[in-house]
Amino acid sequence: MTAASDPGTAAASQPVASAADRRFASQMAQVAAAAGLLRGRRLEWRQLFGGLAHVTYAVSADGGDRYVVKFLTQEMDDFGLMIPIGDLIANTVAAGASGVGARVVQSLPDIPALVLEYIDGRTLDTPDLARPDYIPRIGRAIRDLHVKAPPMRNTTVIWKFLDDYLALIDQHALACPPGIRDWLPTIRRIQAALALNALPAVPSNNDLLAKNIMDDGRIRIIDYDFSGMNDPMFDVGDLAMEGDYDPDQIRTACTAYFGSHDPVQYARASLFGIAAQYTWSLLFVGMNALLTDSPAEGFDYWQEASSRWDWTRARLADPSLEPLIAAASAGAHSQ
Ligand SMILES: Nc1ncnc2c1ncn2[C@@H]1O[C@H](COP(=O)(O)OP(=O)(O)OP(=O)(O)O)[C@@H](O)[C@H]1O
Ligand SMILES: [Mg+2]
Repeated sequence: MTAASDPGTAAASQPVASAADRRFASQMAQVAAAAGLLRGRRLEWRQLFGGLAHVTYAVSADGGDRYVVKFLTQEMDDFGLMIPIGDLIANTVAAGASGVGARVVQSLPDIPALVLEYIDGRTLDTPDLARPDYIPRIGRAIRDLHVKAPPMRNTTVIWKFLDDYLALIDQHALACPPGIRDWLPTIRRIQAALALNALPAVPSNNDLLAKNIMDDGRIRIIDYDFSGMNDPMFDVGDLAMEGDYDPDQIRTACTAYFGSHDPVQYARASLFGIAAQYTWSLLFVGMNALLTDSPAEGFDYWQEASSRWDWTRARLADPSLEPLIAAASAGAHSQ
């Protein structure tokens, strides 16, 4: 859609193209009025798809420069489904400063929205994550984020999300995929094993699905909804889980991250992937039941919860789990 950036007429004076365009017409006008680089300019808005939690647009301004505007879903914060919006904004700024994330052009917490650098590249699809050329490149990009980003102001561990989602599910009496609660004790054993050889926390993305990774010649990691200071092996393990990596592929990712193979951290990355998938299944239970307006129209959040749980159950029931727990605990004597 095309919209003049005069706040009185922006978006509203133009033909509306979709339900999202109609829902966000007034926020578009607010962004156009509040963002210094957009104010007074003729703007074209084009929705970007692939996100499940927020609604994102590419905006072209007269003169040809492009930006991304991410309208943040307040309910994701209100229900504790993601980190607080203030932390999300601060962490997106930090990741952008590292050169790995999109640079923040302007933060608009009152809308709430972010105006971001437009990354002129390709968003990855799930099969890309396991491509032999991409595994080491993504592993090194994770390392770059961890090393180059300034410290993030919050600490984010998967166990906090897990506890919060379990509490939310109880509070709202939400139905879960069958069997998921029965396996919680095994997840708690994984949690205990992961505490033994923990690494110092680094600025982490914590949500490395394909749609949050772009290639513009460099690997760019976007979307800091779950970000914060975390054990570096969480990002590696979350990537491995999202890409459904086999053990050799997880080793390749870890080796790209560290520069050499580390069996303890390889096992820890594998276990973090399992814990992440369990927790994200519960996240989708919450998003399915609690978000008033689905940010991704037509997306089946319940199906996402179920398929993530099916993946996790297979890993929890697999004979390789116990050796992984033992390997992740190796050399630690703190029990
Ligand atoms: N800075 C950017 N430059 C170019 N494209 C972008 C940019 N930011 C986002 N996109 C595109 O928009 C899509 C959705 O953005 P984003 O991942 O931020 O949304 P989200 O709703 O937070 O996603 P999620 O479901 O992972 O929470 C991305 O997958 C990507 O294709
Ligand atoms: Mg995303």
